[in-house]
Amino acid sequence: VQVLLISGSLRDESSNSATLRTVASLAPAGVTAVVYPGLGFLPHFNPDLDGELVPAEVDELRAEIHAADAVLFCIPEYASALPGSFKNLLEWCVGDADPRSLYEKPVGWINIAPLGRAGDAHASLRIVLGYLHANLVEGVIAAIPIGKVHRDDSGAIVDPGVREQLLACLTALVDAVQS
Ligand SMILES: Cc1cc2nc3c(=O)[nH]c(=O)nc-3n(C[C@H](O)[C@H](O)[C@H](O)COP(=O)(O)O)c2cc1C
Repeated sequence: VQVLLISGSLRDESSNSATLRTVASLAPAGVTAVVYPGLGFLPHFNPDLDGELVPAEVDELRAEIHAADAVLFCIPEYASALPGSFKNLLEWCVGDADPRSLYEKPVGWINIAPLGRAGDAHASLRIVLGYLHANLVEGVIAAIPIGKVHRDDSGAIVDPGVREQLLACLTALVDAVQS
């Protein structure tokens, strides 16, 4: 089973990206989990560019989504909304008519902000992924607050309890693919 991990942050020291790198490192045998690296390279969404030929970066994004059996998101909130660069990525997904697009694909997300924060962004994520007709796996829509205390100097999550919860999310997403 292949899982694509998409962070909504462009920051080098992003806690969302570091969380997904930890998820990737926890993948059990038989599961490949890879972090999508291209968020910062996508052109601004423009319907005029979304025809039979799309920009190479968009082609690569769509190919990574098509190759994946499921997608796990981890995104911050900016100004009570989705980060613009990440919403841009989702807009490029709308016109993807390939049968392996996000349409009916199992997806989940983890809100790592302190409890009660970033709710607007994640409510919006639910609406947009619903618009895309993704298969929202409720068991993998999780709030796992992650702070400095759970990380080492590289940002990797070392707290055993948090690592267990992250692995449980990945496993539940894989189960959704297999069921
Ligand atoms: C411009 C800006 C706006 C932000 N707005 C919000 C917000 O509305 N709500 C919130 O909970 N956090 C907000 N934050 C805090 C970020 O979501 C938080 O720093 C997050 O950890 C960044 O994720 P990252 O470490 O993956 O880059 C904002 C941060 C920035 C830089």
